[in-house]
Amino acid sequence: MTRPAIRSNAVSNPASNTTARNPHDQARDEITTGLNAHRAFVSPKYLYDPLGSRLFEAITDLPEYYPTRTERAIFAQHAADMARAAGTGSTFIDLGAGNCEKARSLFDAFRPEQYVAIDISADFLDGALETLRRQFPAMDIQGLGMDFSAGLDLPATLNAHRRLFFYPGSSIGNFPPLSALALLTDIRRHCSASSNDMPGGGLLIGFDLVKDTTVLEAAYDDALGVTAAFNLNLLNHLNALIGSNFNVRDWRHRAVFNTRLSRIEMHLEAKRDLVVAWPDGVRAFREGEGIHTESSYKYTLPEIRGLLMQAGFRDVRTWTDDAGWFAVCHAVI
Ligand code: AVI
Repeated sequence: MTRPAIRSNAVSNPASNTTARNPHDQARDEITTGLNAHRAFVSPKYLYDPLGSRLFEAITDLPEYYPTRTERAIFAQHAADMARAAGTGSTFIDLGAGNCEKARSLFDAFRPEQYVAIDISADFLDGALETLRRQFPAMDIQGLGMDFSAGLDLPATLNAHRRLFFYPGSSIGNFPPLSALALLTDIRRHCSASSNDMPGGGLLIGFDLVKDTTVLEAAYDDALGVTAAFNLNLLNHLNALIGSNFNVRDWRHRAVFNTRLSRIEMHLEAKRDLVVAWPDGVRAFREGEGIHTESSYKYTLPEIRGLLMQAGFRDVRTWTDDAGWFAVCHAVI
């Protein structure tokens, strides 16, 4: 494997250097607002504490969860073609890098000059980058613990030219369409070269496609119960974040495909009437009442193209598997 040159940086969290509101207060406000809503909800980003991140990794190995292996097969078959479209020697910015495996598998084809891994779970990222740095001691590797769902805040240490944003795994599907458009528009803005004589950048992104409901629902409610554990673990994470007293045993996982909105919805449902309390609040749940914890939107190819173009991208190229279950797209600014 080719090893691009240079140094590595430690994971940093830009939020911790700001004088803005304490991120913990912000998280508590966001979570309690959702819990107090008529139809309770919690942002899916809270699924990813260290255990949640490991459970998600396990999900990607499940026979029912087709997106990861399907996307991997698309990359394996078309990486060279994708690299021809995107160009080599870029600053490869990995959004939601997780264990960094996907990006690593593309280093041979894309030969990045700089690799920037961004993930909300800084601890998990730290471990993954340590391994990567051992494997690529000469590569310029930077890690950022950042919640980019509210906007990308990139440090000045990133090369301004030839930025290739990498957003695989259909994570874009976890945003409602308008938020997805806002994020893609933000990414597009960060692709821009700092001056006219520098080449601009692009985006390589994975989308999950609309398919049979049975296949979709099995992928989010597997026989082993790993996705159920992933969803239920969110309650333990909330207890740690806001001091609530959720008891995981009082709740069950539910996943359903909402055909009208073209999205899988994950909910946690109360098994009995119960009351949940936290230091400055309380909420009663009736038996069967739910907390909406995640939506995973499924797209058609024309919808994807429309979304990318609306965000200001052009020259959209798409690669899919034979069954048409998943799509990887490249687009430029
Ligand atoms: C991270 N994201 C793309 C996954 C998905 O398929 O929406 C999260 C997930 N939730 C349950 N299983 C996987």
